[in-house]
Amino acid sequence: MKFGTIGAGTVALAFAREALATGHQVVLSSRRGPESLASKVAELGRGAFTATVEEAASLDYVLLAVPWPNVEDALRSLPAWNGRVLIDATNPFIEYSPKLVLADLGGKGASEVVAGLAPGARVVKAFNSIVTARFNEGPIKNGGRRVIFVSGDHPEPTEFVKTVIEGFGFVPVYLGGLATGGRLQQAGGPLAGRDLVDFGSP
Ligand SMILES: NC(=O)c1ccc[n+]([C@@H]2O[C@H](COP(=O)([O-])OP(=O)(O)OC[C@H]3O[C@@H](n4cnc5c(N)ncnc54)[C@H](OP(=O)(O)O)[C@@H]3O)[C@@H](O)[C@H]2O)c1
Repeated sequence: MKFGTIGAGTVALAFAREALATGHQVVLSSRRGPESLASKVAELGRGAFTATVEEAASLDYVLLAVPWPNVEDALRSLPAWNGRVLIDATNPFIEYSPKLVLADLGGKGASEVVAGLAPGARVVKAFNSIVTARFNEGPIKNGGRRVIFVSGDHPEPTEFVKTVIEGFGFVPVYLGGLATGGRLQQAGGPLAGRDLVDFGSP
């Protein structure tokens, strides 16, 4: 698959490294434009490209990895989604320092808000609940495999994202749709930030 990314920071680069290592291609984009990403793409190597946000977002599978306060701006003026897939890795923090502050979403799930800002996109929530430093340590921990949660209302792209995660070596765990499963894994939810490991069967 050739993935687009909206955002090219910690999360998008971590995703890109795994995607490239497992035979995918990645087109990174960010607010400051393709030129600002030249060195990152060179470092990632073969299969990594950079483009405008509009170009990256026109691919079939697009990872959203920008800070929450920038989500609306990032999703504005993009090509019509027409069923293309938006993998939502964001968390609804409006402040990171000196302490984490969650946005008031008026009772909505964060990925439901994202879906509302990307009409026509099939949104799959993934990669948001694992701290990227843990993700970067790799899938194996204490002889088990780290878990990555997936939520979505559309079976086909949800299954595909699970396959991608499995390809990375992690264990994908489907939590249900955006309204229920999304809330479980989003920041502030009971599964957020947990470094869970699957030991399989004895
Ligand atoms: N870090 C973690 O451990 C972690 C784990 C899971 C989920 N998350 C969530 O994932 C999201 C990204 O986190 P991060 O740590 O990767 O952030 P980050 O390192 O600060 O990177 C943010 C990226 O978003 C880009 N960006 C900002 N506004 C944009 C816009 N309007 N259009 C296009 N690109 C834009 C930035 O581009 P410029 O540099 O050009 O401004 C930058 O490349 C956040 O919602 C965070 O809560 C983080």
